[in-house]
Amino acid sequence: MDSARITAAETLAALGVTQPDQVAPLFAEIRSRFGLESTAIHDEPAWKTFRDAWLGRKSGILAQITDNWLKPAPPDLKRAVGAGLNELRAHVESQIESRRQAIESGAEQSALAREHVDLSLPGVTRPIGSHHLIRQVFQEIEDIFVSIGFSVVEGPEIETPYYNFEALNIPEFHPVRDDMDTFYLELPKGAPTPLLLRTHTSPMQIRTMEKQKPPVRVIVPGKVYRRDNPDATHSFVFHQVEGLAVDSDITFCDFTGTIEYFVKQFFGPGVKTRFRPSYFPFTEPSVEFDVSCIFCGGSGTAAGGGTCSKCKGAGWIELFGAGMVDPAVYGFVNYDAKKVSGFAFGMGIDRLAMLKYQIDDIQVFFQNDVRFLRQFP
Ligand code: DAH
Repeated sequence: MDSARITAAETLAALGVTQPDQVAPLFAEIRSRFGLESTAIHDEPAWKTFRDAWLGRKSGILAQITDNWLKPAPPDLKRAVGAGLNELRAHVESQIESRRQAIESGAEQSALAREHVDLSLPGVTRPIGSHHLIRQVFQEIEDIFVSIGFSVVEGPEIETPYYNFEALNIPEFHPVRDDMDTFYLELPKGAPTPLLLRTHTSPMQIRTMEKQKPPVRVIVPGKVYRRDNPDATHSFVFHQVEGLAVDSDITFCDFTGTIEYFVKQFFGPGVKTRFRPSYFPFTEPSVEFDVSCIFCGGSGTAAGGGTCSKCKGAGWIELFGAGMVDPAVYGFVNYDAKKVSGFAFGMGIDRLAMLKYQIDDIQVFFQNDVRFLRQFP
């Protein structure tokens, strides 16, 4: 018998089966086809088609066997065919059912697998960002001063005119107030004192000395505000670090030595410092510190020849104001001007950061474009 030709669509006579012992191989062949087909069924739609192909009432293979093999079978074959068919049906039904269960639980498992969190996998790394360059420069400056005995203190950004001006020896009609015109807060009528956004960190000199007897060595990082129009070097909010050292025997040498130490630590040992006379109401004498131009090495000449555009050929760049604390200031904080002396300085951090990191527009510090920020991880 040619097993390839065995089909349930034809009668036994057409298949050439005439003896009872020819029946069993017939069913064996059908059963092995069923087995092969069933292994290819992996999902519910395929399973349904498969089930109907075998068990469908009208045209399923078992129905065809009943119609084509069993019903027309001659009496001497009927028994064998009936027995074979019953056995085949039992097998097919139980296999189809167990296949269904397997597919169902498999689908459940893969759904579970999708939800399952595998803790052994590497985690999702989320960028955590970094400190803003201004914050980093604050930190650099704090580290330098802390290493030589200064402490870091912070103060309010909203100040009274007394701390921002008067106690710093800037009386109401002093002309330097013109440069420091700022933002006053709108207050309810009858408020005890006007309030303003501090124009510098210097008020903290007063607040510190009010609280603390000498010796005092503090630096004050923070934001300050001025009514400046924004351009490449101006912003209505910027950052300063104030410094104050007061003790019984602080000299001008201590002062310049401290500043020189700081500037070399910050810009590198190769730079030189110098100071020029200047004026601040709260220091006497007052100076302006310069650093040898870090772009042209102090030569005033650009790398490719010509005048250095950064120092405009001077070889020096202005850094910040400073001075010996004016004795008048001690009068506001109950320090004995005959017994104490000290120095103070106030540096613009944005300016220092721009010089050190060669940034030519102060506005980038406030725009917070990540393409800029990422350059300083
Ligand atoms: N407060 C001044 C300013 O903002 C800077 C300054 C100058 C601070 C001299 C000082 C100082 O402590 O001694 O322009």
